[in-house]
Amino acid sequence: MEAALEFRGLVVRYGDGVPVLDRLDLRIDPGERVALLGLNGSGKTTLLMAAVGLVACDGIVRVLGETLSDRTVGAIRRRTGMLFNVPEDQILLPRVVDDVAFGPTRRGVSTARARSDALATLASLGIDEAVAAGSVHALSHGQKQRVALAGALVTRPDLLLLDEPSAGLDPPGRTALARLLAGIDVTLLVATHDTEFARRTCSRFILLEGGRVAWDGADLAGITSRWDAGGPG
Ligand SMILES: Nc1ncnc2c1ncn2[C@@H]1O[C@H](COP(=O)(O)OP(=O)(O)OP(=O)(O)O)[C@@H](O)[C@H]1O
Ligand SMILES: [Mg+2]
Repeated sequence: MEAALEFRGLVVRYGDGVPVLDRLDLRIDPGERVALLGLNGSGKTTLLMAAVGLVACDGIVRVLGETLSDRTVGAIRRRTGMLFNVPEDQILLPRVVDDVAFGPTRRGVSTARARSDALATLASLGIDEAVAAGSVHALSHGQKQRVALAGALVTRPDLLLLDEPSAGLDPPGRTALARLLAGIDVTLLVATHDTEFARRTCSRFILLEGGRVAWDGADLAGITSRWDAGGPG
C-alpha cells in the first residue's frame, strides 16, 4: 500500500545549526490518525511544514503517492488541509465566509457552491451564519482558530496536518472538533500538547525527541508516563 505520508532520512536544519530533525523516518498509512507529541522545540511544527514543502529539507518526503518536489508541491498542497498554529497567518480575506470559500473557489468550485460548502463547514465548527457574514477581525482567538480550521476542512482533503488545533478552543469546542474529526474520512496528523484531545482523536501516538521518533505506538500512556517520570521528554 502507498503511504499517505512518508519521511525517509528527513533532515531539517535552520541556518547552520544542529538539525532539528535528524534522519527521521516515519510512515503513516491512509486512514491512520496520528498524534505528534514532544516538548516545546522538539520539531513538531517543523515536521508538519516539511510535509508540504514549507521548510527546506534533505531526505525523501512522499505525500499521497507523490514525492515532494517543486513539480509536485502545488498538487500536494491542494490535496492537503493544513492548520498552522497562528490562525491569523492563514486567514486571508476580511469576511469570514469569503475566507473559507477561497480554497474551494481556487480549486474551480463555483462561487455559490463554495459559499454553501463554507457555511456548512463553519456551522459544523459552531460558527453561525451571522458570524460568517461578519469580519474576521472582530473574532476572538478561538473563533479565528475555528475559521482557520474550516478553511482546512472545507475542501475535504485526503490528508489533514493540524498544528495545535485545540489550542484556544473552549472545552465544548474541543469536544466538537474531536467529534467532527472522528466523523470524516481522512488521514490525520495532529501536533498537540493536549493529551486528552490526542486520546480522543487519534489511535497512534508518536513522540519526537532528539530530532527522531523516540516512541511510536497505540498506547498514549507510553509517552505520558515518560513525562510523569520526569524524563527528558
Ligand atoms: N524559522 C526558524 N528559524 C530558526 N529556528 C527555528 C525556526 N523555526 C523553528 N526553529 C527552531 O527549530 C526547533 C523546533 O521548532 P518547532 O517549532 O518545530 O518545535 P515544536 O515542537 O513545534 O515546538 P512547540 O511545542 O513549542 O510548538 C526549535 O529549536 C526552534 O527554535
Ligand atoms: Mg509547534
